[in-house]
Amino acid sequence: MLLHSPPYLFVSKVIRVLIIGFLLITVSMQYYNYHKSKFNCVESVPTHANDLQTEDGDGQSVPLCPIISPKLIGWTNLSAETMSSILEEDGKVVELRMKEAGLEAGGKYEPKECRSQQRVAIIVPVRDRRDHLTVFLRYMHPFLQRKQMSYVIIVVEQSEHFPFNRGMLMNIGFKEVQLFKEKYQCLILHDVDMLPEHDGNPYTCPEEGKPRQMAFSMNYFKNYTPVGEGFFGAVTAISTADFQRINGFSNAFWGWGGEDENLYHRVVSQKLTVVRPFEGRPLHSVRYMMQSHKRAVPSPGRLDVIKGGRGAFQTDGLVNLKYQKLDYQLKPLCTHVLVDLQPSNMSAT
Ligand SMILES: *[C@@H]1O[C@H](CO)[C@@H](O)[C@H](O)[C@H]1NC(C)=O
Ligand SMILES: *[C@@H]1O[C@H](CO)[C@@H](O)[C@H](O)[C@H]1NC(C)=O
Repeated sequence: MLLHSPPYLFVSKVIRVLIIGFLLITVSMQYYNYHKSKFNCVESVPTHANDLQTEDGDGQSVPLCPIISPKLIGWTNLSAETMSSILEEDGKVVELRMKEAGLEAGGKYEPKECRSQQRVAIIVPVRDRRDHLTVFLRYMHPFLQRKQMSYVIIVVEQSEHFPFNRGMLMNIGFKEVQLFKEKYQCLILHDVDMLPEHDGNPYTCPEEGKPRQMAFSMNYFKNYTPVGEGFFGAVTAISTADFQRINGFSNAFWGWGGEDENLYHRVVSQKLTVVRPFEGRPLHSVRYMMQSHKRAVPSPGRLDVIKGGRGAFQTDGLVNLKYQKLDYQLKPLCTHVLVDLQPSNMSAT
């Protein structure tokens, strides 16, 4: 047929085929681009995997860490004997071992074998808890490293002035984490006396809008009976963006208690949903052991402030935080910040 057609007809057929082919390719590329996000089924978790340029020695990029680390060992018997043997070990020996395991000054760690999904900053407020802190750091580093996490442990210590203010120390931890050159997508607000018993306990943030109450099954309560839904303290994971959205903690809680309930109100008022690991079925793998100590004296005015504090969250929190850094050290097992707090009821001098 073609051979018998006049040459101009043949040429126009070729051109038509080319045009149709070109149109088909263009349309399908548009379709792919339009639907690309839908083809990508990865959960929308705050992630740093893309901003890392980690390369190994051969110039090949390191693969993403698996969802479940192959290094997990499961449950640890955190008996009094275990804790005292952790405490008694020689400090220099521990530091050397941790350094050899890849821990960097300031208590920072990145796995060598893979890129982790998030960078997690663990903020630990303290005062007068030297032994608890020692056990915490020595236990937590190997625990977190088995999980192949990128993380830092930052300890914020309050000077002897004023009663303890946990919320304010957490806010300071947040501010200090922003000053690191690395970007941390996830904060874990961690009491120093709480130790996770099982390394299957997730130490990352769920997606934005869903802070996770991590400590709800603790030996402190009989038979690890889960605490109520409104409990939002001890150990909590919240994305950096969410923490900023709720303006952090209130600065108004001096002494023990109240600041966590206030934080819960902030979270709820901003329409965030508090989730728990393994929602609905408390398993042995999310239990916490509390290091023993005498209970602190509750702050006398805490109930008044909880009531009065509601609704005032825009003006009380990260925005009006005032403190003075007395000391800042990149210690072998943590970044340590010693601070003097300035109550927000005092004008800056
Ligand atoms: C944990 O260790 C303590 C002391 O070593 C021991 O008495 C206890 O039975 C252990 N618990 C379990 C569940 O193995
Ligand atoms: C400000 O807060 C501090 C810390 O609790 C308290 O001691 C002081 O009395 C307060 N001052 C005023 C003027 O309320």
